[in-house]
Amino acid sequence: MLILGIESSCDETAAALVEGGHSVLSNVVASQIDTHRSFGGVVPELASREHLRNIGFVVSQAFLEAGKKYRDINGIAVTNGPGLIGSLLVGLSFAKAMAFSLEKPLTPVNHIEGHIYSAFIEHPDISYPLLALAVSGGHTSLIYSPAPGEYRAVGRTRDDAAGEALDKLSKFLGLGYPGGPVIDKLASKGDPRGFTFSIPKISDGSLDFSFSGFKTAALRHIEQSGIKPGRPGRKISQKILDLVASYQSAIIETLRLQTERAATAYHPRSILLVGGVACNSALRRTFKESFEYQNPSRRDRSTVRQAIPVYYPAPVFTTDNAAMIAAAGTPKLREPLPLQLDLNAYADLRLC
Ligand code: KG4
Ligand code: ZN
Repeated sequence: MLILGIESSCDETAAALVEGGHSVLSNVVASQIDTHRSFGGVVPELASREHLRNIGFVVSQAFLEAGKKYRDINGIAVTNGPGLIGSLLVGLSFAKAMAFSLEKPLTPVNHIEGHIYSAFIEHPDISYPLLALAVSGGHTSLIYSPAPGEYRAVGRTRDDAAGEALDKLSKFLGLGYPGGPVIDKLASKGDPRGFTFSIPKISDGSLDFSFSGFKTAALRHIEQSGIKPGRPGRKISQKILDLVASYQSAIIETLRLQTERAATAYHPRSILLVGGVACNSALRRTFKESFEYQNPSRRDRSTVRQAIPVYYPAPVFTTDNAAMIAAAGTPKLREPLPLQLDLNAYADLRLC
């Protein structure tokens, strides 16, 4: 099965050719970071126009790099939500036109399911049931999957996404865009105990997340400590480094705590860390240390649970890409599908 994946849900125009669900022959991503940088965030109208400009080139480049012809594919998988509606429609319309002219089957893929499959590209033998933490600029969800293609929403953010929270602090402090990778780098030079952020307790005991309080607390710390936003080329003060480290650490602890509680409730055999924020080095380390090893000092009866292997994709498959869409679409395309030319995109498409 040779599948073409197409992804255009946010600010990356991407196409990939994937064989058998795991073997990535090409993975082309045209990033729009430079277009949106001066606005400090993605501008939907500009994103759609950039997708329109890039999609033809990106798809033909994916075939060129894989050494394949259009007719060689067995089907097309395309993201149809959630995401920016104008951006989604560019990829979807392109995929429909290709499927129609090549007479190949087409399947829609939920972007979050794509992120879950991103972990399988390098680790095809991940065991079910699994618990996936999908953390990106637009989403923060805990999803329990007892078997391939079956999903149960266990927890989701009630306000900002984790990536959005990181991007916003970077914007307040003038550190650059997108904020996640900058904060990842700077946090290692700061003291995570330098500033206090209290971890929110969701009062109904659910496994949901909340990050907006951290943003308010950060603004208060900035004001009270007299922190001035940085400027390009200027040395970054130790206070800023400490604030960034403390903020990142609070976000990671929130993610870890809710994942720990979900693992205790659902007993997964694997934990997946996926979505752009899963590139974060401290988050990856914390999850490996918390879930893969049993800390004897914490072994009281209430917290005993088996060590659980943690999987995350290589960075190229962690941020938005089309290889993960092709991987998620492969099992769907094994079944015969009618050509769905009325297929639509949905900004708020739910996985479960
Ligand atoms: O999955 P993704 O590429 O797009 C969405 O579906 O949203 O995720 C983008 C998010 C941005 O918020 C970006 O700041 C964050 O992922 N990100 C990171 C890192 N690399 C990207 N956050 C923390 N640490 C990183 N190394
Ligand atoms: Zn994403």
